[in-house]
Amino acid sequence: MKVAFVVFTLFLCSEGCPRIISRSEWGGQRSKCTSYLKPPMTYAVIHHTEGNRCFSTSTCSAQMRNVQSYHMKNRKWCDIGYSFLVGEDGNVYEGRGWKTLGAHTLNYNSVGYGICFLGNFTGVAPGTKALNAAQQLIKCAVSKGMLKSNYILKGHRQLGSTKCPGNTLYNIIKKWPHWQ
Ligand SMILES: *[C@@H]1O[C@H](CO)[C@@H](O)[C@H](O)[C@H]1NC(C)=O
Ligand SMILES: [Zn+2]
Repeated sequence: MKVAFVVFTLFLCSEGCPRIISRSEWGGQRSKCTSYLKPPMTYAVIHHTEGNRCFSTSTCSAQMRNVQSYHMKNRKWCDIGYSFLVGEDGNVYEGRGWKTLGAHTLNYNSVGYGICFLGNFTGVAPGTKALNAAQQLIKCAVSKGMLKSNYILKGHRQLGSTKCPGNTLYNIIKKWPHWQ
């Protein structure tokens, strides 16, 4: 295990925040992005990758590397498109993070964070650990002043022509606070 991993565990959970697996921990390529956000953001937008689910830190890290590679090589983006991703191992994975402009929701990238579940949640729900981690991340974002306290929660499909984040996950987030 990397030294960074060991060091990180000593700094677990700044107040009310979930564990966020850093780019270096999941083995990500360096971001080439040069555009930044001006928090606090108004929107939290929920997505799914529509790819493989993952239930361990090693398999979720591998999924992160796959998605990042697809976004950087095929789509020619400066980094993985989402702000944060969530695995069914119960961890949040660092994407573009709090301060970097994302590429997740056309017309909303400069006013919102894209939070993406790793997996296809069209016909099946994400596990409780992932659902809890995403909700904790949203609360954490408010407590850090990154997301407005009167933020608006949306599913990607409400803001663009897509089925994302899948019917099953969409029906779940519709019951979460601030969804409208
Ligand atoms: C996602 O799951 C649905 C049904 O559960 C399936 O119809 C669809 O093809 C899957 N998407 C992908 C990209 O595999
Ligand atoms: Zn989406």
